[in-house]
Amino acid sequence: MKILVIGATGTIGSAIYNTLKNEYDNVFGAHRNSKSYPIDITDKKSIKALFEKLPKIDAVINAAGTASWKPLSELTEEDYYIGIRSKLMGQVNLVHVAKEYINDNASITLTTGILAEHYEPNAVGLSLVNGALHSFVHAASKELDRGIRLNVVAPGAIAGDFPEDQKFAGYYPVHITDVVDSYKQLFNNNNTGTICKKY
Ligand SMILES: NC(=O)c1ccc[n+]([C@@H]2O[C@H](COP(=O)([O-])OP(=O)(O)OC[C@H]3O[C@@H](n4cnc5c(N)ncnc54)[C@H](OP(=O)(O)O)[C@@H]3O)[C@@H](O)[C@H]2O)c1
Repeated sequence: MKILVIGATGTIGSAIYNTLKNEYDNVFGAHRNSKSYPIDITDKKSIKALFEKLPKIDAVINAAGTASWKPLSELTEEDYYIGIRSKLMGQVNLVHVAKEYINDNASITLTTGILAEHYEPNAVGLSLVNGALHSFVHAASKELDRGIRLNVVAPGAIAGDFPEDQKFAGYYPVHITDVVDSYKQLFNNNNTGTICKKY
Protein backbone atom coordinates (compact mmCIF):
# COMPACT_ATOMS: atom_id res chain seq x y z
CA MET A 1 0.00 0.00 0.00
CA LYS A 2 1.52 3.30 -1.13
CA ILE A 3 0.09 6.39 0.54
CA LEU A 4 0.61 10.06 -0.30
CA VAL A 5 -0.13 12.67 2.38
CA ILE A 6 -0.19 16.27 1.12
CA GLY A 7 0.19 18.99 3.75
CA ALA A 8 2.37 16.63 5.76
CA THR A 9 3.82 19.37 8.02
CA GLY A 10 0.47 20.91 9.01
CA THR A 11 -1.65 20.40 12.14
CA ILE A 12 -3.81 17.72 10.54
CA GLY A 13 -1.41 16.50 7.83
CA SER A 14 1.52 15.90 10.19
CA ALA A 15 -0.68 13.80 12.50
CA ILE A 16 -1.88 11.73 9.54
CA TYR A 17 1.63 11.37 8.13
CA ASN A 18 3.28 10.42 11.45
CA THR A 19 0.55 7.90 12.30
CA LEU A 20 0.58 6.22 8.89
CA LYS A 21 4.41 6.19 8.76
CA ASN A 22 4.34 3.88 11.79
CA GLU A 23 1.78 1.54 10.23
CA TYR A 24 2.65 1.33 6.52
CA ASP A 25 5.92 0.89 4.65
CA ASN A 26 5.44 3.38 1.85
CA VAL A 27 4.11 6.72 3.04
CA PHE A 28 5.16 9.85 1.16
CA GLY A 29 4.83 13.21 2.90
CA ALA A 30 4.46 16.14 0.50
CA HIS A 31 4.02 19.85 1.17
CA ARG A 32 4.77 23.20 -0.42
CA ASN A 33 8.26 23.68 1.03
CA SER A 34 9.33 20.03 1.04
CA LYS A 35 12.80 19.25 -0.32
CA SER A 36 11.89 15.61 -1.14
CA TYR A 37 8.27 15.88 -2.30
CA PRO A 38 7.37 19.50 -3.07
CA ILE A 39 3.88 20.32 -4.32
CA ASP A 40 1.85 23.48 -4.67
CA ILE A 41 -1.80 22.47 -5.03
CA THR A 42 -2.61 25.88 -6.56
CA ASP A 43 -0.43 24.95 -9.55
CA LYS A 44 -1.57 22.01 -11.70
CA LYS A 45 1.93 21.57 -13.19
CA SER A 46 3.35 21.17 -9.70
CA ILE A 47 0.71 18.54 -8.85
CA LYS A 48 1.61 16.63 -12.04
CA ALA A 49 5.34 16.91 -11.31
CA LEU A 50 4.86 15.20 -7.94
CA PHE A 51 2.84 12.30 -9.38
CA GLU A 52 5.45 11.86 -12.15
CA LYS A 53 8.10 11.48 -9.45
CA LEU A 54 6.19 9.04 -7.22
CA PRO A 55 5.39 5.35 -7.76
CA LYS A 56 1.71 4.52 -8.39
CA ILE A 57 -0.24 5.48 -5.29
CA ASP A 58 -3.11 3.58 -3.58
CA ALA A 59 -4.31 6.32 -1.22
CA VAL A 60 -4.01 10.08 -1.68
CA ILE A 61 -4.85 12.22 1.34
CA ASN A 62 -4.88 15.97 1.09
CA ALA A 63 -4.74 18.21 4.16
CA ALA A 64 -3.48 21.37 2.44
CA GLY A 65 -5.40 24.44 1.35
CA THR A 66 -6.30 27.82 2.70
CA ALA A 67 -8.89 30.61 2.42
CA SER A 68 -9.35 34.17 3.74
CA TRP A 69 -10.50 34.82 7.31
CA LYS A 70 -12.37 38.15 7.35
CA PRO A 71 -15.81 39.49 8.21
CA LEU A 72 -18.23 39.65 5.27
CA SER A 73 -18.06 43.45 5.24
CA GLU A 74 -14.30 43.33 4.55
CA LEU A 75 -14.14 40.46 2.07
CA THR A 76 -13.07 41.62 -1.37
CA GLU A 77 -13.54 39.58 -4.54
CA GLU A 78 -9.81 38.85 -4.49
CA ASP A 79 -10.10 37.55 -0.90
CA TYR A 80 -12.66 35.00 -2.09
CA TYR A 81 -10.33 33.95 -4.91
CA ILE A 82 -7.60 33.06 -2.39
CA GLY A 83 -9.78 30.23 -1.07
CA ILE A 84 -11.15 29.37 -4.50
CA ARG A 85 -7.64 28.99 -5.97
CA SER A 86 -6.16 27.19 -2.96
CA LYS A 87 -8.56 25.09 -0.91
CA LEU A 88 -11.25 24.65 -3.60
CA MET A 89 -9.56 24.43 -7.02
CA GLY A 90 -6.34 23.10 -5.45
CA GLN A 91 -8.26 20.02 -4.28
CA VAL A 92 -10.39 19.82 -7.44
CA ASN A 93 -7.26 19.92 -9.61
CA LEU A 94 -5.64 17.34 -7.35
CA VAL A 95 -8.50 14.95 -8.11
CA HIS A 96 -8.22 15.60 -11.86
CA VAL A 97 -4.47 14.94 -11.88
CA ALA A 98 -4.39 12.12 -9.32
CA LYS A 99 -7.01 10.04 -11.14
CA GLU A 100 -4.68 9.81 -14.14
CA TYR A 101 -1.78 8.43 -12.08
CA ILE A 102 -3.12 6.36 -9.18
CA ASN A 103 -3.82 2.63 -9.11
CA ASP A 104 -7.16 0.98 -9.89
CA ASN A 105 -9.41 1.05 -6.79
CA ALA A 106 -7.24 3.73 -5.19
CA SER A 107 -8.74 6.25 -2.83
CA ILE A 108 -8.59 10.06 -2.73
CA THR A 109 -9.55 11.85 0.48
CA LEU A 110 -9.90 15.64 0.65
CA THR A 111 -10.30 17.96 3.64
CA THR A 112 -13.02 20.55 4.27
CA GLY A 113 -14.34 21.39 7.74
CA ILE A 114 -17.26 22.15 10.02
CA LEU A 115 -17.65 25.59 8.42
CA ALA A 116 -19.37 23.98 5.42
CA GLU A 117 -22.56 23.91 7.45
CA HIS A 118 -22.02 25.76 10.74
CA TYR A 119 -21.46 29.45 11.26
CA GLU A 120 -18.37 31.04 12.78
CA PRO A 121 -17.59 34.79 12.61
CA ASN A 122 -15.04 35.83 9.95
CA ALA A 123 -15.25 32.47 8.20
CA VAL A 124 -17.50 33.18 5.20
CA GLY A 125 -14.55 32.60 2.82
CA LEU A 126 -13.96 29.13 4.32
CA SER A 127 -17.68 28.25 4.37
CA LEU A 128 -17.94 29.05 0.66
CA VAL A 129 -15.21 26.66 -0.43
CA ASN A 130 -16.04 23.90 2.06
CA GLY A 131 -19.63 23.79 0.86
CA ALA A 132 -18.56 23.76 -2.79
CA LEU A 133 -16.18 20.89 -2.12
CA HIS A 134 -18.93 18.80 -0.54
CA SER A 135 -21.06 19.25 -3.67
CA PHE A 136 -18.04 18.44 -5.85
CA VAL A 137 -17.22 15.23 -3.96
CA HIS A 138 -20.86 14.12 -4.02
CA ALA A 139 -21.07 14.50 -7.82
CA ALA A 140 -17.51 13.78 -8.99
CA SER A 141 -17.28 10.52 -7.00
CA LYS A 142 -20.02 9.09 -9.24
CA GLU A 143 -18.01 9.75 -12.42
CA LEU A 144 -14.63 8.33 -11.41
CA ASP A 145 -13.74 5.10 -13.18
CA ARG A 146 -11.32 2.20 -12.47
CA GLY A 147 -12.92 1.86 -9.02
CA ILE A 148 -11.28 5.07 -7.81
CA ARG A 149 -13.01 6.41 -4.69
CA LEU A 150 -13.37 10.03 -3.59
CA ASN A 151 -14.30 11.10 -0.05
CA VAL A 152 -13.83 14.06 2.26
CA VAL A 153 -13.17 14.53 5.96
CA ALA A 154 -14.83 17.61 7.47
CA PRO A 155 -13.24 18.16 10.89
CA GLY A 156 -14.31 20.54 13.62
CA ALA A 157 -11.61 22.69 15.19
CA ILE A 158 -8.69 20.59 16.31
CA ALA A 159 -8.16 20.51 20.10
CA GLY A 160 -4.80 22.06 20.84
CA ASP A 161 -4.93 24.24 17.74
CA PHE A 162 -8.06 25.72 19.34
CA PRO A 163 -8.86 25.95 23.11
CA GLU A 164 -10.42 22.66 24.16
CA ASP A 165 -13.00 24.26 26.47
CA GLN A 166 -14.35 26.72 23.88
CA LYS A 167 -16.86 26.08 21.13
CA PHE A 168 -15.96 26.73 17.50
CA ALA A 169 -18.87 27.07 15.08
CA GLY A 170 -21.09 25.81 17.92
CA TYR A 171 -19.12 22.63 18.64
CA TYR A 172 -16.29 21.73 21.01
CA PRO A 173 -12.96 20.90 19.35
CA VAL A 174 -12.19 17.34 18.30
CA HIS A 175 -9.16 15.22 19.11
CA ILE A 176 -6.68 14.80 16.31
CA THR A 177 -6.48 11.02 16.84
CA ASP A 178 -10.22 10.73 16.03
CA VAL A 179 -9.73 12.83 12.91
CA VAL A 180 -6.76 10.72 11.76
CA ASP A 181 -8.91 7.59 12.27
CA SER A 182 -11.47 9.00 9.84
CA TYR A 183 -8.89 9.36 7.07
CA LYS A 184 -7.70 5.79 7.75
CA GLN A 185 -11.24 4.40 7.64
CA LEU A 186 -11.95 6.11 4.34
CA PHE A 187 -9.06 4.54 2.49
CA ASN A 188 -9.59 1.14 4.09
CA ASN A 189 -13.33 0.80 3.49
CA ASN A 190 -15.22 0.83 0.18
CA ASN A 191 -17.04 4.13 0.60
CA THR A 192 -17.14 6.77 -2.07
CA GLY A 193 -18.86 10.16 -2.14
CA THR A 194 -18.84 10.23 1.67
CA ILE A 195 -18.60 13.41 3.70
CA CYS A 196 -17.17 12.24 7.01
CA LYS A 197 -18.14 14.85 9.58
CA LYS A 198 -15.95 14.85 12.69
CA TYR A 199 -17.53 17.33 15.11
N1 LIG B 1 -6.55 23.06 12.06
C1 LIG B 1 -7.87 22.96 12.24
O1 LIG B 1 -8.39 23.14 13.38
C2 LIG B 1 -8.76 22.61 11.09
C3 LIG B 1 -10.09 22.25 11.35
C4 LIG B 1 -10.92 21.92 10.30
C5 LIG B 1 -10.46 21.96 8.99
N2 LIG B 1 -9.17 22.34 8.77
C6 LIG B 1 -8.72 22.37 7.37
O2 LIG B 1 -7.73 21.39 7.21
C7 LIG B 1 -6.77 21.81 6.25
C8 LIG B 1 -5.39 21.76 6.88
O3 LIG B 1 -5.40 22.62 8.01
P1 LIG B 1 -4.14 22.68 9.01
O4 LIG B 1 -4.58 23.55 10.16
O5 LIG B 1 -3.63 21.32 9.27
O6 LIG B 1 -3.13 23.51 8.10
P2 LIG B 1 -1.67 24.03 8.45
O7 LIG B 1 -1.28 23.62 9.83
O8 LIG B 1 -1.65 25.48 8.08
O9 LIG B 1 -0.74 23.20 7.43
C9 LIG B 1 -0.88 23.33 6.08
C10 LIG B 1 -0.03 22.25 5.39
O10 LIG B 1 -0.33 22.34 4.01
C11 LIG B 1 0.82 22.73 3.29
N3 LIG B 1 0.39 23.71 2.28
C12 LIG B 1 -0.15 24.93 2.45
N4 LIG B 1 -0.46 25.46 1.26
C13 LIG B 1 -0.10 24.55 0.32
C14 LIG B 1 -0.17 24.50 -1.08
N5 LIG B 1 -0.64 25.53 -1.80
N6 LIG B 1 0.27 23.40 -1.72
C15 LIG B 1 0.76 22.35 -1.03
N7 LIG B 1 0.87 22.33 0.31
C16 LIG B 1 0.43 23.43 0.96
C17 LIG B 1 1.79 23.30 4.28
O11 LIG B 1 3.10 23.11 3.75
P3 LIG B 1 4.31 24.10 4.06
O12 LIG B 1 4.59 23.97 5.53
O13 LIG B 1 5.42 23.59 3.20
O14 LIG B 1 3.82 25.48 3.67
C18 LIG B 1 1.47 22.43 5.49
O15 LIG B 1 2.11 21.18 5.36
C19 LIG B 1 -7.20 23.22 5.81
O16 LIG B 1 -7.97 23.13 4.65
C20 LIG B 1 -8.09 23.68 6.96
O17 LIG B 1 -9.07 24.63 6.54
C21 LIG B 1 -8.32 22.66 9.77
